[in-house]
Amino acid sequence: MITYNIISEIKEEILRKRKEGLTIGFVPTMGALHDGHLQLMRKAKEENDLLVVSVFVNPIQFNNPEDLEKYPRDIKKDSDLLISVGCDILFFPTVEEMYPPGETKRTYDFGILENVMEGASRPGHFNGVGVVVSKLFNICLPHKAYFGEKDYQQLAIINKLVEIESIPVEIVPCPIVREEDGLAMSSRNARLSPDDRKSAPYIYEVLKEAKENSEFLCVNRLKQFVINQFADRPEFDVEYFELADDVDLQPINTHDTSVGTMGFIAVKLGMVRLIDNIRII
Ligand code: PAJ
Repeated sequence: MITYNIISEIKEEILRKRKEGLTIGFVPTMGALHDGHLQLMRKAKEENDLLVVSVFVNPIQFNNPEDLEKYPRDIKKDSDLLISVGCDILFFPTVEEMYPPGETKRTYDFGILENVMEGASRPGHFNGVGVVVSKLFNICLPHKAYFGEKDYQQLAIINKLVEIESIPVEIVPCPIVREEDGLAMSSRNARLSPDDRKSAPYIYEVLKEAKENSEFLCVNRLKQFVINQFADRPEFDVEYFELADDVDLQPINTHDTSVGTMGFIAVKLGMVRLIDNIRII
């Protein structure tokens, strides 16, 4: 694995590889790698000649400074994991390299996609994601880029970004990877207290129950059902549970089998904010 920190150097190398006719599979990450990330990389490695991974904790997508400060960073451990999945090229830039002082950042209009759920809860977050992913695509020039359905709304935003900027890349969605007890893998899980870690799989249990009950309960009752499941679990603070269509992520008010429907949840457990989702229809 070759590591690059400088944009012009990695871009030159990737252009050379593309000229040789090699295909580039790209997985952007913020590091603190776990099996969820590695699953994306294994798929990218399988489907392309070269696997390129970026590790960059993107400051402009954090709307909470404490979250940015506490974000786990361990490039040595990440590098070992990257080598274990056969990563060919690692891009590990500094903040100054990605955001030279004085450079103006683009503002995107992702339309209705950014006004709901994570967009509504985390102002500026998706714009920050759009800015960095657009830059990374321009640097790593991937044929295919891999994103997890764990961050389903982010995936929808990336599809929109590619459409807005006409970027010639195929976006490949990848299913959520879970711990054995059902908790969706996330770099933030490491910040849960031991007791909260024991409670955390309950989130997915409730999502699965919601899916089962969606046959019998109307949308409002289903939402109430989910909220009620957390009523006697004071360690959880539910920020939202929403049923939304699987393309524009707009709230669904009545079940309709002709519309792909997802259930989305955000909860705070102790000081840690967790998100998860499940396909309902
Ligand atoms: P990060 O949280 O590091 O995630 C990198 C990629 O891994 C994302 O596509 C995310 O959806 C995927 N991923 C994380 N946990 C997963 C899981 N349990 N199962 C499947 N996929 C999972 O998402 C970001 O970084 C950033 O916003 C980024 C796109 C890199 C832009 O800064």
